[in-house]
Amino acid sequence: MKSILITGGAGFIGSNFVRTLLRLEPDARIVNLDALTYAGSLENLRDLPAPERHTFVQGDICDRELVEDLLRQHQVDTLIHFAAESHVDRSILGPAPFVQTNVMGTFTLLDACRRVWGEADGFAGRRFHHVSTDEVYGSLEPGAPAFQEATPYEPRSPYSASKAASDHLVRAYFHTYGMPVTITNCSNNYGPYQFPEKLIPLMILNAVRGQALPIYGDGKQIRDWLYVEDHCEAIHRVVQDGKPGETYNVGGGNQPYNIDLVREICAILDELRPGARPYAELIQHVPDRPGHDRRYAMDISKIRAELDWVPRHDIESGLRATVQWYLDHPDWVRAVLEQDGYQTWLDKNYVERGGK
Ligand code: NAD
Ligand code: DAU
Repeated sequence: MKSILITGGAGFIGSNFVRTLLRLEPDARIVNLDALTYAGSLENLRDLPAPERHTFVQGDICDRELVEDLLRQHQVDTLIHFAAESHVDRSILGPAPFVQTNVMGTFTLLDACRRVWGEADGFAGRRFHHVSTDEVYGSLEPGAPAFQEATPYEPRSPYSASKAASDHLVRAYFHTYGMPVTITNCSNNYGPYQFPEKLIPLMILNAVRGQALPIYGDGKQIRDWLYVEDHCEAIHRVVQDGKPGETYNVGGGNQPYNIDLVREICAILDELRPGARPYAELIQHVPDRPGHDRRYAMDISKIRAELDWVPRHDIESGLRATVQWYLDHPDWVRAVLEQDGYQTWLDKNYVERGGK
């Protein structure tokens, strides 16, 4: 890895990964291609550890000419693909951008690499890494075994269906053209710089603003939470030593009910930012997400055995660090909350649920 094209590197996981890579790879140069949709922000890329090795380019992964230019101009040997429309609720209310970015965008990147790397000296020393999700496997019944890499795909939301389609395209480029690809399918991330449409930052910021904490349905859904830094280190490990053509499941092994997770956030806030009343009093059950997946759990035995990766953070320390980060970054929080469209999104997603 010397010249790396990262897509979506101004988003939550991508911006954390840029930091991880600059720290772990002292010789790497990064080109960061991001469209700066509502979910991406240059605020996420302030104070990088080695900014001289990072070049930001605002642009769309569906822009084939731009992608080819970047691959040629920077002699890219490694592409790590994060860019996506990533929020399930938005995919329910408006699926079209999910198909465009997640399916067509991934296709554009793959085909641009096929051409540019093919015209140069071929695929030797190259890597296309695709960042995907556990949601492609569908929803688990209580007590059913955790998802393995061989679990059949059964996506159930427009978001997960679009990610599943992109995973299939990536594998097709390995089998058909011999492109050296790897895929990671990861569970729910949390940590610094996550946009407050996702459960954990939404609950933290609603709570400190004294607003309702909307729990979909009975709150007994289960996610497999992973601190974002652990995910970034797993991706780095797979890009370095993962076998071309292979998929690796990544997860945190922390599987509380949503309602218990939110209660835990409230308890941490009660301690770190005590209010007049316990924050848990703001919890409000609202109508469920349509097609809501009940439970995810990841079997990480493959990445542990082959690449010696395990998460370093447990949920208690990770959650506390995350709550503290949001409390310590009022400027970042203000910039996001004042962003055009944020309040409109809350109104669109929650008012009809009666959750505001
Ligand atoms: P995010 O929504 O925070 O960031 C996505 C980034 O992609 C943003 O910076 C956005 O501007 C950019 N982007 C969107 N469309 C683009 C386009 N057409 N061209 C260029 N850039 C574009 O997402 P995230 O949570 O950081 O997720 C990153 C990746 O990881 C996604 O592929 C997602 O499916 C996957 N993933 C996320 C999680 C999670 O819990 N957040 C878990 C597993 C996998
Ligand atoms: O599993 C990996 C996936 O995790 C990623 O691929 C997605 O990009 C990411 O958005 C995330 O999807 P989820 O739908 O699981 O995340 P979200 O934070 O939106 O919701 C987590 C759980 O919390 C889910 O069961 C829905 C519930 N929820 C969410 C919100 C926003 C609520 O109860 N209330 C809410 O207001």
